[in-house]
Amino acid sequence: MKANQSDEIRLSIPNKPEYVGVARLTVAAIASRIGFDIEKIEDMKIAISEACNNAITHGCRYCDEGEYNINFVLTEKKLTISVYDKGEGCKCELEDIRKPNYNNLKEGGLGIFIIKSLMDDVEIESEKGKGMMIRMIKYLGDGI
Ligand SMILES: Nc1ncnc2c1ncn2[C@@H]1O[C@H](COP(=O)(O)OP(=O)(O)OP(=O)(O)O)[C@@H](O)[C@H]1O
Ligand SMILES: [Mg+2]
Repeated sequence: MKANQSDEIRLSIPNKPEYVGVARLTVAAIASRIGFDIEKIEDMKIAISEACNNAITHGCRYCDEGEYNINFVLTEKKLTISVYDKGEGCKCELEDIRKPNYNNLKEGGLGIFIIKSLMDDVEIESEKGKGMMIRMIKYLGDGI
C-alpha cells in the first residue's frame, strides 16, 4: 500500500450471535494482509467479538434493524475498526470504564474494558435512541 493511501471495507452483519465469527475471520484476513503479527491479530479478534456482542445484546436489543455494521479502514500504518448499530445507544463514557475489582468479579461489564486493554486507541460515540459506534485502532509495528 502506498503512503497516505487508505482503503475501506464495509460489512453489514445480521444481529445474531452465530455471525460474530464472520467478523473475527474478516478482521484476521484484513489484518494479516497488511502485515500484522499473530499476537495483534488475536487482540483484534477478541476486541471485535466484544464490540459485536455489545451491538447484538445491548444495541440491537429492541431495535427493528436486523443488522449492525462494521467499517474497516486500513492504511500502511494502522487498522481502524468501527462497529456501529442503530439501537438504543448508551450513556457509557470511556472514562467511566474502570478496572474490574478482581476480589469481587461480577458477571458481565468487562467487554469495553477488554477492548481498551487490547487496542491502541478506542473512542465511543453514542446518542440516546440513535445507536452507538465504537472505533478501535491498532497500529502496525511499535509506532503510535
Ligand atoms: N452497542 C451498545 N448499545 C447500547 N449500550 C451499550 C452498547 N455497548 C455497550 N453498552 C453499554 O455499556 C455497558 C458496558 O459494556 P461492556 O461490554 O463493558 O459490558 P457488558 O456487555 O455489560 O458485559 P460483558 O461484555 O462482560 O458481557 C453495557 O452494559 C451497556 O449498558
Ligand atoms: Mg459486552
